[in-house]
Amino acid sequence: MIMTKKIVFATGNAGKVKEIRMILADLGMEVLSMKEAGIRLDIEEDGTTYEENALIKARAVAAHTDAIVMADDSGLEVDALNKEPGVYSARYLGEDTPYSIKNAEIIKRLEGLEGEQRSARFVCAIAAVFPDKSEVTTRATIEGQIGFEEKGTNGFGYDPIFYVPEFGKTTAELTEEEKNQVSHRGKALELMKKELMRYEESHCSK
Ligand code: IMP
Repeated sequence: MIMTKKIVFATGNAGKVKEIRMILADLGMEVLSMKEAGIRLDIEEDGTTYEENALIKARAVAAHTDAIVMADDSGLEVDALNKEPGVYSARYLGEDTPYSIKNAEIIKRLEGLEGEQRSARFVCAIAAVFPDKSEVTTRATIEGQIGFEEKGTNGFGYDPIFYVPEFGKTTAELTEEEKNQVSHRGKALELMKKELMRYEESHCSK
């Protein structure tokens, strides 16, 4: 199916825009960052769930364009830490604190725990606001364990301590393509792709 609609992705992160372009490539849709769409907004993410935060961002941008708007929100949940840092993952120990320090602190807080006791997951919710103002969200996760030391230099954030037993590697040791295929964000985007196709089909047949 070839569609020609525009999608504005509510993020300032060029990496996310690149990833979504790759995943949606076969739909033939033009994916623009907020900046490329000429939209400058400082959006406060004050929701208490990933879905709420993604919707807050998508709705704020949708007020400025007739394009389809998408936004994501994600985080790391460590079971032994009561699912912290969760929706506060970016702000954990301070927004500007280097991830080497955040990662070392999580490893320290899990001292004495082994195997399944170190279980964790990355969660991603994606929200879309369509031109008719209808909304949809998708969510996906990747399960793993917190490692005993940082490993790997790919990716970002908590990737060097997020060990995926099925690969025997951290997500910082996976290539970009490998990570996109199994990651919370990659899988949530695949689900969103189905929602986009559903929206287009229902609106073309009207
Ligand atoms: P946001 O979704 O851009 O608000 O990001 C939330 C935060 O969760 C990031 O700043 C990272 O700390 C963490 N995070 C989300 N996804 C990943 C990932 O794929 N790798 C490493 N850290 C992640």
